[in-house]
Amino acid sequence: MKRIFSGIQPTGEIHIGNYVGAIREWVRLTEDYDCIYCVVDFHALTVEYPVDEMAKRTLDTAIVLIACGLTPEKCKLFIQSAVPEHTELAWIFNCVTPVGDLERMTQFKEKARQHRGNVNMGLMDYPVLQAADILIYKAEFVPVGEDQIQHIELSREIARKFNGRFKPLFPEPQVILSRAPRILGLDGKSKMSKSLNNYIGLLEEERTIWEKLRTAVTDTNRVRRYDPGNPHLCNVFTIHTAFSEKGLLEEIERDCRSARIGCIDCKRMLFERIIEEIAPIRERVEEIKKNVDYVFEVLNTSALKCREIAKRTIDEVREALGLLSLKKG
Ligand code: TYM
Repeated sequence: MKRIFSGIQPTGEIHIGNYVGAIREWVRLTEDYDCIYCVVDFHALTVEYPVDEMAKRTLDTAIVLIACGLTPEKCKLFIQSAVPEHTELAWIFNCVTPVGDLERMTQFKEKARQHRGNVNMGLMDYPVLQAADILIYKAEFVPVGEDQIQHIELSREIARKFNGRFKPLFPEPQVILSRAPRILGLDGKSKMSKSLNNYIGLLEEERTIWEKLRTAVTDTNRVRRYDPGNPHLCNVFTIHTAFSEKGLLEEIERDCRSARIGCIDCKRMLFERIIEEIAPIRERVEEIKKNVDYVFEVLNTSALKCREIAKRTIDEVREALGLLSLKKG
């Protein structure tokens, strides 16, 4: 089976953009690929964070991933900092990555704007560590949302540079683009994200989810209830397409265009669909939280297996670089 790698940051609260844009796809792909998934805590160090919350955020993220179906029977799931070879390879990749390539990254430019007081080297180097995450396992495919395409292109570029200069050790990884590649936030403008506070959290109370959805921006040309709407200009409809069946989508599209339903009716239907889909996940989260030892065991076992693969790659890389080997024989 071909290998997949993907990662998610432990930013505290997984939102429905992460879920439909990544996690739900990751689960589906476990049927056909050898999948390695990772909570990338080292990536999360690139911005300010509450130090005493990091461990909990990391564990909670792992719990949600398992609850979504990323169980040890289906894939390997581990914490990035448990496999230090990622950072070793990142250093080596630093030495073949032009600074200009990193300065051009859209996400770097955005984050540098958002965190003006803390534009650290890690923020700029973020995609190099990401390339190392993928290539240390020689993964050929990387399932992500749209915002990560540029980073995966850079991973390909880094693989090409290393292969050309030293030895052809790495595949050039391909994106598997999510079927819901860009979910906008409730403002209907920017990407749904934790940092912009425009999100619906997977574990938020139902009441809170409804309150957020109720006030979400729709087709801004539809001012009065009896104005016909255009679903293709409406972010609530886009989110519907990630959660609702074809039949319901067709019905909504027809009834919105003819003003038979108002935005609030459409939102109510979306709310029901979201809850229906995430309720079992929320129940499993509660179950898993009662047995945290199980989570530690899953993460440890996976990390051990991943370290074995990572060490083999690092040995090959060190040799390709021409470093002095102190191994006997
Ligand atoms: P992170 O935690 O920012 O995002 C995790 C995944 O969620 C997707 N995503 C979205 N998809 C659709 N709509 C949205 N609004 C939305 N918001 C987030 C992202 O595309 C991503 O797939 N840099 C990575 C983490 C990473 C990684 C890797 C990924 C580190 N190393 C190696 C792949 C391979 C990231 O964006 O995490």
